[in-house]
Amino acid sequence: MLVAAAAARLVAPSLSRSALRLASSARTYSRVGTDSTVVHGLVGAVGNTPLIRLNTLSSETGCEILGKAEWMNPGGSVKDRAALYVVEHAEKNGLLQPGGTVVEGTAGNTGIGLAHICRAKGYKLVIYMPNTQSQEKIDLLKMLGADVRPVPAVPFTDPKNYNHQAREHAESLTNAVWTNQFDNIANRLAHIETTGPEIWRQTSNGADLDGFVCSTGTGGTLAGTARFLKTASNNRIKIWLADPPGSVLYAYKTRGVIERTGDGSITEGIGQGRLTDNLAPDWDLIDDAVHIPDSETIKMVFRLLDEEGIFCGASSAMNVVAAVEMAKGLGKGSRVATVICDGAARYQSRLFSKSWLEGKGLYEHIPADLRKYVGLP
Ligand SMILES: Cc1ncc(COP(=O)(O)O)c(C=O)c1O
Repeated sequence: MLVAAAAARLVAPSLSRSALRLASSARTYSRVGTDSTVVHGLVGAVGNTPLIRLNTLSSETGCEILGKAEWMNPGGSVKDRAALYVVEHAEKNGLLQPGGTVVEGTAGNTGIGLAHICRAKGYKLVIYMPNTQSQEKIDLLKMLGADVRPVPAVPFTDPKNYNHQAREHAESLTNAVWTNQFDNIANRLAHIETTGPEIWRQTSNGADLDGFVCSTGTGGTLAGTARFLKTASNNRIKIWLADPPGSVLYAYKTRGVIERTGDGSITEGIGQGRLTDNLAPDWDLIDDAVHIPDSETIKMVFRLLDEEGIFCGASSAMNVVAAVEMAKGLGKGSRVATVICDGAARYQSRLFSKSWLEGKGLYEHIPADLRKYVGLP
C-alpha cells in the first residue's frame, strides 16, 4: 500500500479525455468559487472553500487527512452548493419566474442555503421539516425570512412525510417550485462542477490524493464528487461511503442488503433509507463503506476543536473519523480528503450540553481532558 501510494504520487497527473471535458466545460449555473476577483453577489461566493490539512491526525496516522472547509460557504454549509444549483436549474427550465416561491423539504442546511439564495435572488421560501430538528436551525431559518413548517417525523413511505408535504404545497401554488433536493440531480451536478474540481485542483490535479470519503444525506456530495474524481483520475482515486447508525447504505454496499445498521444517530442531515436519484447513478463508483458509531463521532467533535480549532457539527466529525479509517486502510503515506460540512453553532444546545450527552450515553466517550469544552449544563 505504501508503495502504491508513493508510486501514485510520482505519476504525473493526467486527465482522461472525458475528465478534461468535465473539468473544462463551462459551468451550468452561476460562477461558483472564482479565484481572486470580485464575485457577483452572494451566489458568487458559494464554493471555493479551503482544503485544510488536519495536522494532528495527519502526524498521528502518518497519512494526510484533508478536510474541505464547507462551513466557510456564505450560508455556512456544504448545502449552499446544492441550494444554488437547484434554484438555478428551476430558473433555467422556466419553473421559477421573478417573485416566485421555492418550496423544499429539508432537515436544515439545504433550507439555510436556500434561504440565503432566495433572499439574494428575490424569491419566497417555504420549508417543511421533521419536527426533530435542532431549535438553532429552525430559528435561523425563520430569521432568514423562511416560512418554516415543522411536521411530524414519519417515514418516506407515509404521505405525511415532510418531502411529500413540500411537493403538494408547491403544486398548490402558481410560480412555485419544489426543488426536491433528494432526487433532483442538479444537486449532484453542483458537486461534479464545483466540489470535485476544487478538490482536484487543491491536490495538484489529483496527484496528491488517494481517497475521498463522506457521508450521505441526499447523496449529492458523495456522488458528484466521486463522479468527478473517478473520471479525472482514471479510476485511481478510491471512494468510500461513511454511514451513521440507523442508515441502510452501509449494509447495502458491504452485503448487498437494504438493512439498517444500528438505531438512530446524533448526526443530523445524514443517513438514508433508500438510494436517491442523486446517489443511484454513481453507487457503483463507491469502492467501500465504513460504519461509524456515535461514540467515535462525538470524540472527534471535541478532538477537532481541541487540536485544530475546528468547531464543526457531528456529520463533519463523522466524516473525519471515516477519513482516518480510510487512510489507515490505504496505508501509510496515503492522502484522503473529506468534507467538513458545517459548523457546530447550529447544534450547540445538544452537542455541548452535558445533560444531553449523558442522556445519549455519549458523555463518557469524550476523553476526560476534553470535557472542559462541554460548556452547557
Ligand atoms: C450537516 C450535513 N452534513 C452532510 C449532509 C449530506 O450532504 P448530501 O445531502 O450532499 O449527501 C447534509 C445534508 O443536508 C447536512 O446537513
